[in-house]
Parts: sequence; C-alpha cells; structure tokens
Amino acid sequence: ALVSLRQLLDHAAENGYGLPAFNVNNLEQVQAIMEAADECGSPVIMQASAGARKYAGASFLRHLITAAVEAYPHIPIVMHQDHGASAPVCIRSITDGFSSVMMDGSLQEDAKTPASYEYNVEITRRVVDIAHAVGVSVEGELGCLGSLETGMAGEEDGSGAEGMLDHSQLLTDPEEAADFVKKTGVDALAIAIGTSHGAYKFTRPPTGDILAIGRIKEIHARIPNTHLVMHGSSSVPQEWLKIINDFGGDMGETYGVPVEEIIEGIKHGVRKVNIDTDLRMASTGAVRKFLAENKKEFDPRKFLIASTKAMKAICKARYEAFGSAGQA
Ligand code: G3H
Ligand code: 13P
Ligand code: NA
Ligand code: ZN
Repeated sequence: ALVSLRQLLDHAAENGYGLPAFNVNNLEQVQAIMEAADECGSPVIMQASAGARKYAGASFLRHLITAAVEAYPHIPIVMHQDHGASAPVCIRSITDGFSSVMMDGSLQEDAKTPASYEYNVEITRRVVDIAHAVGVSVEGELGCLGSLETGMAGEEDGSGAEGMLDHSQLLTDPEEAADFVKKTGVDALAIAIGTSHGAYKFTRPPTGDILAIGRIKEIHARIPNTHLVMHGSSSVPQEWLKIINDFGGDMGETYGVPVEEIIEGIKHGVRKVNIDTDLRMASTGAVRKFLAENKKEFDPRKFLIASTKAMKAICKARYEAFGSAGQA
C-alpha cells in the first residue's frame, strides 16, 4: 500500500530502525528494490529526482511506482519526490500522487546557489502547509552537502550546490535545526555532515574529521523527536568499482560512506538514508561484465537481468543492515 513518509518514519523511530531510500529511474531499479524488499519483508521508499523526471518523465515514474504498489499490496511503499527546487515543483508532485516531497530550500531555485536561512524557512513552511492539508509528508534540508576534505560542493551534475562552501555551511548547526523544525513543521530533516552526491565523496576511507557522525549525535540530542535524513549515503562498493574497471571502465580511486557509520547514525535518529550511486555502480559493473563475457548476446533482457540481480543484492544488504528487514 502507498503510505506517507511520516507514517513509515514514525514506525521506524518507534522500532529503532532506518530505511534506505533508493532513487529510481527505470523498471529494473523498481524491480530490484521490490524483489529484495519482498524477500526480506522490508517497507520501501522509492524517490524520483529532477534528473529522473527528465530521463523517464514524471508520468512513467509515477506509473512504475504505482505498479509496484499494485504488485506488492502487502508492502508499505512511500513515493517520494527527491530534492524539489521550488514550491511549484513540490505542488506538481503532490497533485501527481506522491505521498512525500522534499522541499530543498537549502539551495535557491537554480538548485546550485546556497540560499539564506530565512528563504529556506519561508519556502519550506509554505510547502508544509500545502502538503499537510492533503496528507503528504515533507522533508526539508538544512546545511549544504559537500566535502569537508576540500570545501567543494558536490559534483556538477545538477544534484547539489556548485563551487566552494565554507565550513559552517557544510555542517548543520543543532540550534538552527531546532529553530528550523519548529518554524517549518517538517516531517523529516536532511542534514549536512560531510557527505556529497555521486561516487567521489572521499579520497580516503573516511574518518570523523571528514564524515561527521558526531554531528548527528549533537543534532539528535537537541531534537530527539525529529526524523533525520542522510543524503549522499552510498557506500561506493570497492568490489563494484573493481569490476567496472576490470571490464573496460575507468573510475578513479574513491570512497563512500561505510555501512557501519550509517548504522551508528541510525542509533542516533537517522531514519531515511538516500542511496542512488551504489545501484548505479552495481548496474554498470554487472552490464560491463555480462557484455564482456557474452560477446554474442544481443538480447537486452539478458544484461538487464544481470543489472537487476546486482542492484537487488545491494538493496537486500541495506534493508538487513539498517534493520528494516522484517518490519513490513
Ligand atoms: O539527488 C541526487 C541523486 O543522486 C539524483 O541524481 O539528478 O542525476 O538523478 P540525478
Ligand atoms: P548517493 O549519490 O550517495 O547515492 O546519494 C543519493 C542522494 O542523496 C539522493 O538524494
Ligand atoms: Na529526498
Ligand atoms: Zn540528495
């Protein structure tokens, strides 16, 4: 059944678990996420980014997720709009039938330039007023995703700030978070702790100075009843990085957010963990390997099955590690 983000995260908080929120762009991702959830009994959050809407179109995405709701009636599913850049974007998703939207007011409408705190409060509060009137949940964001190693914002792929950020923008302030939640009434709050979107998060396995799990604890201590969201939380699996490069790829050395660190976050109020890159890497690695090893094959279903299988294994591992397995 389609449920709101608030319903699911309240259940997660009561029962002390976290949920991966997977980005979806195509049929195979939806199938991988659902097959894994069905096998281990996990509730599901699927989210569509602006890039996904550009790639597949809002209508195809909505119908793919609706198809999952129909095919798996026993599994609670949240249809979430990721990183809305303006109130109209969120309102469009609400009228499309999404059960949850993210109003990312940490950035201006260009989705690149950091916004003022006052702008963020005002736009987020407006979207909350509208969404709550029709039972839709809202995720807000305070602080900007970006690297504590370099001060650089995320990759220039249209999914985050651009250019240099200062240290205070890269770490969400607990006191400001409390004020933000009180003024906006958001159902969940995305925080900045040194993660960024994409595969190139850390140049070395992260330690506390560049991945601030400690900051989550400080925020949770200040606002214990607020559901926290970690963005840029792919683990960047080294085994998939190697397969991609072994079969013709050329990705550089890079590290993601270790699953153990996410589990530590879940112990301190993190309930939603955004993951896109890990499924992309598993899919690309599996397709590269399959095509290299099956040079006579020309039926796309064959390599897409390999893609689905690889993504499904990641989904299952995250449901189990975050404790959502068995909670559906
Ligand atoms: O928001 C970040 C996600 O990884 C989506 O990226 O805009 O390329 O679909 P995208
Ligand atoms: P990753 O790029 O780490 O998978 O993060 C995805 C994300 O935060 C989507 O909002
Ligand atoms: Na989101
Ligand atoms: Zn994100």
